[in-house]
Amino acid sequence: MTDLLINIDHVATLRNARRESFPDPVQAAVLCELAGADGIVFHLREDRRHITDRDVRLLRETVRGKLDFELSTNTEIVQICCETRPDLATLVPERREEVTTEGGLDVVGHRARLRETIPRLFDAGIREVALFVDPEPDQIEAAREAGANAIELHTGDFANAPTPEARAAVGERLAAAARQAHTLGLSVHAGHGLDYANYPLFRRLVPHVSEVSIGFAVIARAVLVGLDRAVRDLRKLVKG
Ligand code: PXP
Repeated sequence: MTDLLINIDHVATLRNARRESFPDPVQAAVLCELAGADGIVFHLREDRRHITDRDVRLLRETVRGKLDFELSTNTEIVQICCETRPDLATLVPERREEVTTEGGLDVVGHRARLRETIPRLFDAGIREVALFVDPEPDQIEAAREAGANAIELHTGDFANAPTPEARAAVGERLAAAARQAHTLGLSVHAGHGLDYANYPLFRRLVPHVSEVSIGFAVIARAVLVGLDRAVRDLRKLVKG
C-alpha cells in the first residue's frame, strides 16, 4: 500500500510571510500524523525561505512516522541533514529564483557531485536516499549508478498537462519509469502537483509507488476545511 507523506513547507511560508511564530509547521506535522499521514516532508532551502533550522530540530524530535528531508547538494545543508538523520533524504535541484522545485535533478550532468554526496548521507546513518527525477530512462539508470536506493518521480508535468490526452501520455511515461526503477531495485516515490482531482488517475496508471509526497493541495484545502479533514480526505484517496 502506498504511504502518504505530507509536505508542511507551506505552513512555514504562511508564518514567515508575517514574520510571526505561527502557524507552526511543527504543530501542523503533529496534526497531519494524528489525521493518518504516514510521514512528514520538509525542504530546508539554502535561503531558509520557509523551513528554518529550528523547525528541523523540532520536527526530528516530534515526528513519529517517516521523516523526509528534502535538500540540494549544498555542503552546509548536507551537513545539517547528516546531523538530523532523517529516515529519508531526497535530493532535489534548487534555484533561488524559483517559486517551487522546477523539474527533476539532472543526475546525468551532476553525477560526480551526487557520487560524493550520497555516500555522506548513508555514512551518517540515513537509510534511504532518493533522487527527484523526471521520468526519463537515462536519469533513472544514472540514479542507480550514483548510489541512490530510491527515486522520487517528478509528477509536475502530469499535474500541469493541458488536456486529458496529454495527461494520459505523461502518465504512461511515469508508469514506464516506475517499472524501470522497480526492476533496478530502486524504491519508487512520487510527488509534485498531485492533488485530490488528479490522484485517482495517477494511482490507476503508475505501478510500484511506495510513497507519495503531497504539500500544496492539502495545505490549501486545509485553509478552507481544516487540516484534519484535508489529510483524512487525501488519505482515503491514497489508500483506496
Ligand atoms: N516532492 C518534491 C521533491 C518537491 O520539491 C515538492 C514541492 O515542495 C513536492 C514533492 C510536493 O509538491 P506539492 O507541494 O505540489 O504537492
